[in-house]
Amino acid sequence: MTQEEVFKQLTAHAKEYGFVFPSSEIYDGLSAVYDYGQMGVELKNNIKKYWWDAMVRLNENIVGIDSAIFMHPKIWQASGHVGAFNDPLIDNKDSKKRYRADVLIEDYIAKLEEKINKDVEKGRRKFGESFDEAQFRATNPNVLRNQQKMDEVRERMTAALNANDLQGLRDIIIDCGIVCPISGTKNWTEVRQFNLMFSTQLGNISGEDGIIYLRPETAQGIFVNFLNVQKTGRMKIPFGIAQIGKAFRNEIVARQFIFRMREFEQMEMQFFVRPGSELEWFAKWKETRLQWHKALGLGDEKYRFHDHEKLAHYANAATDIEFEFPFGFKELEGIHSRTDFDLGNHQKFSGRKIQYFDPETGESYTPYVVETSIGLDRMFLAVLSAAYCEEKLENGEERVVLRIPPVLAPVKLAVLPLVKKDGLPEIARDIIDDLKFDFNCQYDEKDSIGKRYRRQDAIGTPFCITVDHQTKEDNCVTIRDRDTMSQERIPVAEVGRIIRERTDFRTVMKKLNKIG
Ligand code: GAP
Repeated sequence: MTQEEVFKQLTAHAKEYGFVFPSSEIYDGLSAVYDYGQMGVELKNNIKKYWWDAMVRLNENIVGIDSAIFMHPKIWQASGHVGAFNDPLIDNKDSKKRYRADVLIEDYIAKLEEKINKDVEKGRRKFGESFDEAQFRATNPNVLRNQQKMDEVRERMTAALNANDLQGLRDIIIDCGIVCPISGTKNWTEVRQFNLMFSTQLGNISGEDGIIYLRPETAQGIFVNFLNVQKTGRMKIPFGIAQIGKAFRNEIVARQFIFRMREFEQMEMQFFVRPGSELEWFAKWKETRLQWHKALGLGDEKYRFHDHEKLAHYANAATDIEFEFPFGFKELEGIHSRTDFDLGNHQKFSGRKIQYFDPETGESYTPYVVETSIGLDRMFLAVLSAAYCEEKLENGEERVVLRIPPVLAPVKLAVLPLVKKDGLPEIARDIIDDLKFDFNCQYDEKDSIGKRYRRQDAIGTPFCITVDHQTKEDNCVTIRDRDTMSQERIPVAEVGRIIRERTDFRTVMKKLNKIG
């Protein structure tokens, strides 16, 4: 199966088992908006807890807030979002479809790459064992021609994007003969800048003055509360403020399921430091965040840093933690050294003094900021795609199993009476009653035990407890492990302890270091 097919299966599985549903499905959906189902919400809450505890419980000098989605519109002028949070877009006049100009060009480059790969495969088939791929790529005229074209187009696109040259982007689309995937025509409009913020109107103010935005990032809610938190919490620099919340972006290109959404959730932390120490903290946060990811055990090889060469005007260092999704390595989290840009601009735009008096140096200054910003939905997709596994068993049967790290699994244990009579359901219910406030448990008595195991495998339940007739004699049950499928007989009184040991957040937290 290709990675594309695996991704399709994963998307279908997420829907079939109650993780993610397309929004407004009975009305044919709303593009790039999704709802989380009964399993999805549990997984999402567990990811949030893991992030929150690693920030605000582990570190005494990080506290949390929950700021409003609506904020004063001037905030988005100060942050630069009104002026510069844009994507270049182009419309096809025949299909009336709107595209991101740079994405149309990137798709064209990807097609050239596909052609190269096809030629390489042809060569491999033709020359068999003696095929030397490096030599073929360096000498085959078709490959060389397409590679040169790719390099030229990419260079032109980067130059046009960096120079904000919209006409330059359009020229590339025309020169390359790029057609609309829907109408098949080259009947393009000019390229225009499109602001990604959603706007709406305050009820009691008419006209332009009433326009407010749905926040495109949660970070600004932290910056504008810097003084409130610092003063009321008597926080001393260095310290951090963390927040989890919704963000909204009117993405033109929305694809790859929950990877790029119009309504999504961010987990952001702004760490305020003394000017001049920010690059040291930036390096520490890079390592700390990577450690957080790796501690989950999804596979160390699935992560890499992508350091930014071209920096945003407010940053003096930036990196992405990329994750290997089924569609390749893509940004999962951003870590940015944002200097004093945000606090400085809010000081300017609000007219309020935003300074910190440092008792150690006796100076007042605008703190510098190191930000860590991760998309909760992207993290959800990372966990789900690493966990999804189609397996052939020794007995010839097949199973789909979600190997979700037990600490994040939506359901921690299923309790299954072997038959639905002879008092076995009652014993199973008693076990659940005893444990349901500690763990999310499921009770299932329908179908054969094998089918019930498969259902639990499909939602990633790490442990199944089976109650059988012998339980009435010896007060023991069978515990089955999702990953190894091994079974063990244990006393009922031990179930809670064993599940706790294997699914406790503390086990993962112990692998993490505090910042500092
Ligand atoms: N405050 C900094 C900031 O917002 P960003 O790189 O634009 O930086 C941070 O976004 C993270 O938010 C990304 O790494 C990604 O995980 C997530 N994210 C951004 N746009 C998204 C979208 N449209 N859908 C889902 N997640 C998104």
